[in-house]
Amino acid sequence: MTIIPNFAVFEGGDGSGTTTQLSLLTERLKNNEKIRFFPTFEPTDGHIGKLIRAALKKDTELQPQTIAMLFAADRNEHINKDDGILKHAINGELVVSDRYVLSSLVYQGIECGDELPYNLNSRYPAPETLIFFDVEPEIALKRMKNRASREIYEYLDFQVLVRQKYLSLLDIYRNAGIRVEIIDAGKSAPEVSNQVWSILCTMPIFNEGEKSL
Ligand code: TYD
Repeated sequence: MTIIPNFAVFEGGDGSGTTTQLSLLTERLKNNEKIRFFPTFEPTDGHIGKLIRAALKKDTELQPQTIAMLFAADRNEHINKDDGILKHAINGELVVSDRYVLSSLVYQGIECGDELPYNLNSRYPAPETLIFFDVEPEIALKRMKNRASREIYEYLDFQVLVRQKYLSLLDIYRNAGIRVEIIDAGKSAPEVSNQVWSILCTMPIFNEGEKSL
C-alpha cells in the first residue's frame, strides 16, 4: 500500500465528532507558523460529492452499488485534482481529511458486501496516520438528535454494524504500516481535541524543522 506522507484521516461512525474535531484542529493551527494546514473532507463539495449528499438525504434515489461507485469517484477527484490531497501533501502541508477510504470499506461494505468497495478503492494511497473516533452508537445518535433531517445511515442498527466493522478492519491498516490510533470519542470535545493534537504532533512533519536545524 502506498502511503501519502503528511496525510492523516479522521474516521468514525456518524455523530462521533470528526467534523467538530477538524474545526477545533483548524482553530489550533490557525496561527501556527511552522505548519501549513489543509483540512478537507469526504464526501467533497465537488459535483460528485453533491450528488452523494443528495442520495444520502434521499433527495435522489440511487442503488447502493451506484453510491459505492460515486464515493470512489469523488475520492479520485479529492486525491488527484489540482487542489487535491496529493498536491497539498507533497507540498509539505499537513493534510487531514474528515473520512477517507475506510469509510467506504465500512459503510459500503455493509451495504454492498466487502468486494465492491474493496475493489473500487484498492488503488488509492493510504494515509500516514489514521485516527478512529470510537463512541457507543447510542451516545453518538443522541448527539445528532437535534439535526433537522436524518440521512440513510443514521439509524442505531446500522451504526452498531458500522462500529463493529471499523474495529474489525483497523488491523488491515496496522499491518500495512499505517499508524492507527483509537480515541475514546465519548469524552468531551476539548479532551478529544487534546488527544488528537498529541497524536498528530508526533507525525514527522512536526519535526522536520528541528531536523534541519
Ligand atoms: P459526513 O459528512 O461525515 O457526515 P455528516 O453529514 O453527518 O457530517 O458523512 C456523510 C455520510 O457519508 C456518513 O454517514 C458516512 C457516509 N460515507 C460513506 O458511506 N462512505 C464514504 O466513503 C464516505 C466518505 C462517507
